[in-house]
Amino acid sequence: MYGLINEAMRRLITDQAGAQTWSRIAARAETAETFVGLLYYDDDVTYRLVGAASAELDTPAEDLLRAFGQYWSSRVGPENYRDVLGATGTSVTTVLANLDLMHARIQNLYPELVPPSFSVSDTFDGGVMVEYRSHREGLAPFVVGLLEGLGTLYNTPTVVTHERPRSEELPFDVFRVQIGG
Ligand code: HEM
Repeated sequence: MYGLINEAMRRLITDQAGAQTWSRIAARAETAETFVGLLYYDDDVTYRLVGAASAELDTPAEDLLRAFGQYWSSRVGPENYRDVLGATGTSVTTVLANLDLMHARIQNLYPELVPPSFSVSDTFDGGVMVEYRSHREGLAPFVVGLLEGLGTLYNTPTVVTHERPRSEELPFDVFRVQIGG
């Protein structure tokens, strides 16, 4: 994944746990301590950082991924990618419906991007069902955090449930996103 992902993780952990802790995490993961946002790194670098952070912080990897998702949607997105986010939508539902368009736009800047795919499969009273497709493994907790973070960003109480994990029969994850009230 692009270095900007690893860099955002470094900032979040450095802010919360300090620079020394981050140094230990990078050493344990056998990675550099900083990353170039525009450079593409093997996905394994990111997974190793999450694993090392989980060990150093004594926190399950799922919890870290979820917190990182929340941070990405509610802080990194609006602070660093305000234009693309603003052009995508102005609420949880509009952004959700247009996430693929948004990543496609980002691909203009970052041509090696291998984005996930999201689609709203159903709407119900007070929310939507979202399908998430990716060729990567294990990122469902990150998606939960990303979706929760959109709620924070737009000041809309949002409850996210990982409704169905992907399987051989169903090659995508399903999330229930309850929006507002
Ligand atoms: C706001 C600005 C955003 C930017 C600049 C951005 C950019 C990126 C980048 C660079 C990657 C790494 C992929 C790669 O390098 O090949 C990525 C991955 C991902 N993005 Fe976004 N993204 C944004 C917002 C969002 C939002 C709001 C969501 C969902 C609610 C989302 C869902 C994901 C997921 C789940 C991945 C992990 C990759 C995978 O599942 O295969 N992104 N994004």
